[in-house]
Formats: sequence, C-alpha cells, structure tokens
Amino acid sequence: MTVFFLAMKKINEQFLISNMKRITFITISLVLIMGVSCSSPKKEKSTATKEVATSIEPMVEEANPGKKLYKDKGCVVCHQVNTKLVGPAIKDIAAAYSGNKAGLTAFLRGEGKAIVDPSLASVMQPQIAITKALPAEELDEIVNYILSNK
Ligand code: HEC
Repeated sequence: MTVFFLAMKKINEQFLISNMKRITFITISLVLIMGVSCSSPKKEKSTATKEVATSIEPMVEEANPGKKLYKDKGCVVCHQVNTKLVGPAIKDIAAAYSGNKAGLTAFLRGEGKAIVDPSLASVMQPQIAITKALPAEELDEIVNYILSNK
C-alpha cells in the first residue's frame, strides 16, 4: 500500500513538473511569436505590397489583351505611351487617329498613309508586315489599345 502511495506521489510530482515545463514552454513561445510579429511589421507590409503589385500586373494584361499584344509584338520598343522615342508617343498617335478607328486599322493593314510623322514612314513601314499578318481580332485589340491612350 505505501509503495503504491509513494508511486502515486512520484507520478503526481512528475506530472506537475511536466505541466510546469509545458506552461513555461508555451509562455516562451508566445513571447517569441509576439516579438517576431511586432518587430517586423514593415518588412511584412513591403513584401505584401510587392506581392499585390506582381499579381496585379498579369491581371491588367489579361484584362487588356491589346496592351499585351502591343508589348509582345515589339511596338513598345519604339512607341512609349507619353514620350516620343524612335516613333511618336502612343498618345500622339491616338490623338491623330481620334474618331478614326477605321483609318488606323487601314494603316496597320498597309492600306493607309502615314499622317503622324510621314518623314519617318520608312522606319515604321517594315513593322506593318507584323500588324498585317495579325488575325483581325488581334489587330482590333491593338487598335483599341492605341486609341485608349489619350
Ligand atoms: C523600329 C521602330 C518602330 C517599331 C518597332 C514600331 N514602330 Fe510604329 N512607328 C515608328 C515610327 C518612326 C513612326 C513614325 C512614322 C509614321 O508616322 O508612320 C511610327 C508610326 C506609327 C503609327 C502612326 C502611323 C501614321 O499614320 O503616321 C502607328 C499607328 C504605329 N507606328 C503603330 C505601331 C505598332 C502597332 C507597332 C507594333 C507592331 C509599331 N508601330 C512598331 C517606329 C516603329
């Protein structure tokens, strides 16, 4: 009987100790977790912003197939949105063809004359081979994209 009680006491003590150990462990963990989450809010914010930014970019391209085509076909190399580079800014092309979607489409099919900067027409001429070969709906998307830049 005494042996049994002694054994029970021992078990109880062990249980208490292990319980205390567990509580200490939990407290330390909590302090560590709080410390980590409090000390790096800025870092988390900036990576979060970056993640949002990188996930928005493909979404924008998906929503604007004309813009993607314009980039993929290399138009962007010579035509920036707002500034003249090798070719006129898209904004200036859009202004010249404002209300004249048919005219812009015809030009990119090789059926029109340069009206924006005729002196450089020979630079743009080879590019028309690319736009001419596009399926009608893709050309339409590029035209819509150009005209949307006002
Ligand atoms: C090598 C440089 C270059 C590339 C690449 C280029 N362009 Fe051009 N583009 C020019 C130059 C230079 C002009 C100015 C001459 C002119 O007005 O035709 C021009 C003019 C234009 C014009 C105005 C046409 C007009 O009536 O004057 C349109 C529209 C145009 N480009 C669309 C495009 C598209 C779409 C692409 C992509 C498939 C493209 N360009 C690729 C150089 C380029």
